Amino acid sequence: MTLSIPHPFPYQGSKRNIAKYILPHFPSDVDCLIEPFCGAAAISIAACTYELSQSVLLNDLNKPLMDLWFEILKQPEQLVERYEALWLEQQLDKKAYFFKIREEFNQSHQPHHLLYLLARIVKGAVRYSAEGTFNQSADNRRSGMQPATMKKNIISVSRLLAHKTSIQSADFREIINKAGKRDLVYMDPPYQGTSFTRDHRYMNGLTYEAFVEALSVMNDKGISYLISYDGITGNKTHGKLLPEFLCLKHLYIHAGRSSQATLLGGNDETIESLYLSPALVERLVAEKSNEIYTATRKQQELALI
Ligand SMILES: C[S@@+](CC[C@H](N)C(=O)[O-])C[C@H]1O[C@@H](n2cnc3c(N)ncnc32)[C@H](O)[C@@H]1O
Repeated sequence: MTLSIPHPFPYQGSKRNIAKYILPHFPSDVDCLIEPFCGAAAISIAACTYELSQSVLLNDLNKPLMDLWFEILKQPEQLVERYEALWLEQQLDKKAYFFKIREEFNQSHQPHHLLYLLARIVKGAVRYSAEGTFNQSADNRRSGMQPATMKKNIISVSRLLAHKTSIQSADFREIINKAGKRDLVYMDPPYQGTSFTRDHRYMNGLTYEAFVEALSVMNDKGISYLISYDGITGNKTHGKLLPEFLCLKHLYIHAGRSSQATLLGGNDETIESLYLSPALVERLVAEKSNEIYTATRKQQELALI
């Protein structure tokens, strides 16, 4: 059955379009789904739509983004009213109004200002200067999501997540420390082609080595995790593969002309990597053999009856 999955705001790098390829790798007994690089949290939203996790922990290093998430979960009505007021006010001079709100956001980091900026910026691509100032420009051909559509999306996301989601804003290493054996960590770090270099697209530089080191610690602790990672666009491979010593299961997802292709300015089809941790693979295999065992038992019982 295909359910409709709401999305709270446009966000470059969102995994919205490929969630359907990622969810089948979820075990059926997830206590808490942890998203340390959550952005627009496409995977958590999709997982909650299909009731694949008891609870959710959302985290992103971008603090104003997590303040926006807090509003989405706790005060969605007020947030959408404020968005509507901004959206209507912009009509006289959209271009100048965008700069005004961007200026105000840089002063006070108000969640509804960020929501408005996200709805208006080019390709939903958040950019900060080296000093941490939001400096992305508006797409002036568009007005940003209509208030009615925004309301529908935000209220639906809030209903899905609010009662079971907690929110943090910290470096991902602090968050993965919280994972237990019955949890599942889904990681979608910034692309190596972007913030692994120092262009500040996502506010900080995360090194490949630091990421690999964190994965190695998670392996030692037997944590189940999934990673979306750089892939291949056309015949060009982006970023280094994750090292063999981590013993990850490496799958490829045909992502179509995805966020990454757009980000890198191309038109080719993108194939994204999905890595499964050894503990997750073990958990899925155990689940499968359990299912087969139960089905065989059922058949035997039926035969006896
Ligand atoms: C590719 S985006 C995630 C997109 C997300 N999967 C979605 O569906 O919208 C990567 C995110 O990682 C965040 N980030 C970058 N460095 C981080 C770090 N060290 N710890 C936690 N989050 C970080 C960025 O702010 C950005 O939102």
